[in-house]
Amino acid sequence: MLFRRTSTGWLATAPAKVNLFLRVIARRPDGFHELETVMAKISLVDQLRFECRDDDAVALAVQQSFPRSLGAMDLGNPDDNLVVKAARLLRQVTAVRQGITIILRKNVPAAAGLGGGSSDAATTLLALNAIWETGQSRRQLSQLAAQLGSDVPFFVAKDACALCTGRGEKIEPLPMRTPLHLVLAKPKTGLSTAAVFRNCTPEPDGPSVEKWREIAGHGTIQEAAQSLHNSLQTPAEMLNVEVAEMKDRFARLGVCGHQLTGSGSAYFGVCRHERHARRCAETLLQQGVPWAVAVTTQTELHCKEAIQRA
Ligand code: C5P
Repeated sequence: MLFRRTSTGWLATAPAKVNLFLRVIARRPDGFHELETVMAKISLVDQLRFECRDDDAVALAVQQSFPRSLGAMDLGNPDDNLVVKAARLLRQVTAVRQGITIILRKNVPAAAGLGGGSSDAATTLLALNAIWETGQSRRQLSQLAAQLGSDVPFFVAKDACALCTGRGEKIEPLPMRTPLHLVLAKPKTGLSTAAVFRNCTPEPDGPSVEKWREIAGHGTIQEAAQSLHNSLQTPAEMLNVEVAEMKDRFARLGVCGHQLTGSGSAYFGVCRHERHARRCAETLLQQGVPWAVAVTTQTELHCKEAIQRA
């Protein structure tokens, strides 16, 4: 995340992610699923502004920057928002009394499998740990993050790309040498993560994530594109016809490879270069797809620069 002080408070960014690989291995007795997944942070970010308050309230204001064609995003009850939960959890474990106003500008669509809410929560933990001087280590923050959601620890970690196991909360850095240029799109309707997992068929003998160790370090764009996999794609297509339609569109788009990210409903294609990704996004928008953007995966260098600027 980027983090800097301004005259009125602090500004931070929260990157979205895509799953370049996701295999559901087994259903667990606790209701979660055992996974192996490669997650990569991308250049699409939410922005968070933190302003100190005189009282002890945690207040959240959300601003949206989506085209009307994507429909109004249901923001739900602020008390259920992961950002508010993250602030309250940090206060609870550190006995801090201070309040905070958080202004969240959403650029990352919700119910999309892009980890927007999880990333916002992770950024809140990291930022408030600095603002409130609560002195939690990254490891301690990661443990708090796991209480908020399976992929929140990935966003607390400083790695641009990681191999994640368990229910997604165990992180192993997977340094990606060169960025991938992607075209990312979302249909109007979203998907519930719980519903998609409920309808998935675990693949105990499915493709292994191991080849991604090689691909992240030395692979070509074509090798990365050919090694995409997502066990959640079939149930997502079954639950949402717009996902199946998106897959057909991407098949005609001329990208190197394509798939659903996470539990969807956002969908991405691996492109040859940045211009190719921008052209593909324009084509999708012309076809009436409500939201399509060109993004790149972050590199270790990008994350290091972001940390230095923090
Ligand atoms: O952890 P998170 O709150 O993001 O998960 C949302 C839902 O997705 C869970 O309640 C569970 O139904 C499902 N899930 C799962 N296995 C995982 C991660 C999530 O079944 N590894």
